[in-house]
Amino acid sequence: MVNIDLKGCNSFVKDADYKAYVEKALTCFDVLEQENGEGNDFLGWKHLPSETPESLIAECEEVRDSWKAKNVDLVIVIGIGGSYLGARCAVEALSHSFASQLKNKNGVPEVVFAGNSLSEEYLAEMMDLAAERNVACVVISKSGTTTEPAVAFRIVKQFIEENYQDAAERIVAITDAKKGALKTLAVQEGYKTFVVPDNVGGRFSVLTPVGLLPIVLAGIDVRSMLAGAKEMELALAKREESNPAVQYAAMRNLLHSEYDKSTEVLVSYNPKFMYLGEWWKQLYGESEGKDGKGIFPASVNFTTDLHSMGQFIQDGARIMFETVLNIEKSNRSVVIGSDEQNLDCLNYLAGQHVEHCNAMAQLGTKLAHIDGGVPQIVISIDRINEFNLGSLFYFFEFACGVSAYLLGVNPFNQPGVEAYKKNMFALLQKPGYEEQGKELRARL
Ligand code: PA5
Repeated sequence: MVNIDLKGCNSFVKDADYKAYVEKALTCFDVLEQENGEGNDFLGWKHLPSETPESLIAECEEVRDSWKAKNVDLVIVIGIGGSYLGARCAVEALSHSFASQLKNKNGVPEVVFAGNSLSEEYLAEMMDLAAERNVACVVISKSGTTTEPAVAFRIVKQFIEENYQDAAERIVAITDAKKGALKTLAVQEGYKTFVVPDNVGGRFSVLTPVGLLPIVLAGIDVRSMLAGAKEMELALAKREESNPAVQYAAMRNLLHSEYDKSTEVLVSYNPKFMYLGEWWKQLYGESEGKDGKGIFPASVNFTTDLHSMGQFIQDGARIMFETVLNIEKSNRSVVIGSDEQNLDCLNYLAGQHVEHCNAMAQLGTKLAHIDGGVPQIVISIDRINEFNLGSLFYFFEFACGVSAYLLGVNPFNQPGVEAYKKNMFALLQKPGYEEQGKELRARL
C-alpha cells in the first residue's frame, strides 16, 4: 500500500491554498473518473489491474516455459520509451542486484534491453554477449514503426536466423492488433504475438503485455504486482480529500503554480529504484510537458547523489521540490560489526543495520533540504516487492491523469516527440523526406 505524507510542505504553503488545490484536483478526478476529458480515448490503463484475465498471464508463462525448455539463458527485450521503461523498472527493482554474476540463476534467463538508443557500440557489445549465449527475443513497439527498436530488431533477428533452426519460435512480437510494420513482419514470419491495446498509450502500458511478458520472463511474480495495482485501483477510485493521488496532484500543482517551483525531483534511497525514476520521468514529462507548460521531472538516487547533486539541491537556485520514495524496511539484513582497534572510528555504529544509517541519512537530509528551501512530499511503501511496485505504478499513473488535467493539458498525447523524428528521417534520406533533408543540411 502507498501512503503520502505532506508535512514536509507545511512550512512552505498556506493551508487555505492547499485546500483550494484539493478542490481543483477533485474536479479533475471527476473528469478522469467520468472519462469526459481530453484524451479520454486513452483510458484503457485505468482498469487493467482489475480486468487483466488470468489467461493473459498464463500465455506469458507459456512463452517463459517454452524458452526454458530450449535452455534459453539470454532474453533480449527490444523497445524504447513506454515500450521499455516499465519492464526495465520492474526488472531492476525486483531482481537480485548481481543476478547475472551469481552462479545460481535459479533457471531464470538474463534479461537485457536493446533498441532504446542508437548506440552502435552498445549493440555490438550486446551481440558479443549473444554470441556466447542461448538467445531469444521480445520485440515491442506499439506503432511498429519506431526506428530505434526496428534497427535493433533487424540485427537481432538476423543473428537468431543465422544461429538457430527454430528462429521463429525464439521471437515474440508485442505490437498493434492490426497495423504497423512489426505486425506485418510478425504475421509473415509466424511469430507469437501479444497485443498492445489501442486505448493504452506507451507510458501507461506497463501492466499490458508490454510490461507483463518481460517481467514474467525475468522470473518476477506478476500476479502479485497486478494484485498491488488492483488494490490501488480500488483505493484511488474513492472521491475524497484523503485520496493520495488527489493530494499528490494538488500539492505538486500548488508548489508549481503558486510558489514558482518549476522542477520536481523524485528521490530514492535505494539504487533498485533508479529505473523507477526513469519510468516516472517519462510518465510525467511526456504527459505534462506541452503547450508551454509542465513541471520538469528530475530524479536522483541518495545517498549516492548527495555527493554530487546534493550541493545544488541544498543551496542552488530554489526552483525545486522533492518527492521522496520512502521504503520502510529492507528485504535483506547487514549488520555493522565491532572492531577492536576502531581505526575507522565506526564503533559507534556497531550492531546497527546499514539500513538504519540510510534511514538517518534520509531524515537528516529531509530536515536540511527543508531548511534550505526545498519542500518535500514523502510517498511510502513498507518494502520493495511485486505488490508494492504494482501499487506505485498505478498510483503514479492515476495521479498523473489528475495532475495533468489540473495543469490544463491533455495527459494522454505527445505531439512533441515527432519533431526530432522528422529531422532524423530527413537527414537519413528516408524516402519521402528528400526536400526536408536538403533544407536541414543547408542549415547545418
Ligand atoms: O509513451 C509513448 O507513447 C512513447 O514513449 C512510446 O512508447 C515510444 O515512442 C515507443 O513507441 P512504440 O511503442 O510505438 O515503438
